[in-house]
Amino acid sequence: MKGIILHGGHGTRLRPLTHTGPKQLLPIANKPMSQYGVEVLKESGIKEIAIIVGGIGSNKVREYYGDGEKFGVKFTYIEQDYPKGISHAIGLCKEFIQNEKFVVFLGDNIIQRSIKDYVAYFQNSNFDALLLLCEVDNPSRFGIADVKNEKILKIIEKPKNPPTNLAVTGIYFLTPLIFDIIEKLKPSWRNELEITDALDILREKNDKITYRMITDYWKDTGTPEDILNANSAILEKVIPYFDGKKEENVRLNGNVIVGKNTIIKDDVVINGPAIIGDDCIIEKKSIIGPNVSIGDNSVVSQCSIKNSIVMSDCEVKCNISIKDSIISKNSVIQTNQNNNEKIFMLGEGTKVYL
Ligand code: G1P
Repeated sequence: MKGIILHGGHGTRLRPLTHTGPKQLLPIANKPMSQYGVEVLKESGIKEIAIIVGGIGSNKVREYYGDGEKFGVKFTYIEQDYPKGISHAIGLCKEFIQNEKFVVFLGDNIIQRSIKDYVAYFQNSNFDALLLLCEVDNPSRFGIADVKNEKILKIIEKPKNPPTNLAVTGIYFLTPLIFDIIEKLKPSWRNELEITDALDILREKNDKITYRMITDYWKDTGTPEDILNANSAILEKVIPYFDGKKEENVRLNGNVIVGKNTIIKDDVVINGPAIIGDDCIIEKKSIIGPNVSIGDNSVVSQCSIKNSIVMSDCEVKCNISIKDSIISKNSVIQTNQNNNEKIFMLGEGTKVYL
């Protein structure tokens, strides 16, 4: 079986974080979110993977993933000129897929389980689609499956009156039959070729569509809150290690990862789960965590940080408490000690809450 990872789109709901690159490269526990999808595919035995790129910073995707050797897989890049929908993106992969069955993984979806069993089941089954469904609180935000007696009756995109709360997650097991359907598909109200429409036509056509329930973790990381939620869910499962240097009176509580060459200075408290990358400096008396990721080469001093992501190459030197925040690469937050005037250098769409 082959794999497809969707890595395009404009990520508008995540601006300003997505002004300079695709949302699927935003780090969760110090790893681009799409890498979790790559790892799930690889672990299930899928090594030939197409990455659909498009939109802002698609060159960054190619730079990060390369030919796939570093990740133990082989990547083929396919360009989508404009975000015209998931079905459109899948349609671009017809030549890549040829006659094989395949798995599509949306690069902004996070799961925390293996799909090995599903791959094996689907490979040997007669089905043309296997969906993974997950119960959600806000069904109008997703593709929804109406299900009765373990049979899919209808699949609808973002229904106003959802018949169930069973979201169709962004992990689809498909056969090349979907390509014929996609070729005839009409754009939806949001001017996209919807995957849910293609799946529903498939259901009407031959009913060879089935599903499994995800009862553990699944997240579509569409908003900053979703990203912070995924960050804490992943951090909860990390295996702690300490590769840095500690000064006096440092307290590490719970699951904490500290990368190489990172210095944790006197009286710092780190409440896990938390990850601090390589080559960071955590200055005296800082309090980090819980649910905090700090990327490589960042400096934190004097402050307390909770439930937040600070990306790489940042300087956070301020005497304040920070929570529920996402601070992008190369950012500086500094308190002006001498007076109460603040200095700002803010990119488009920046949010500052003082
Ligand atoms: C897309 C699909 C939707 C699916 C969701 C899962 O939604 O259209 O059916 O439930 O991904 O992540 P979108 O991210 O385009 O809102």
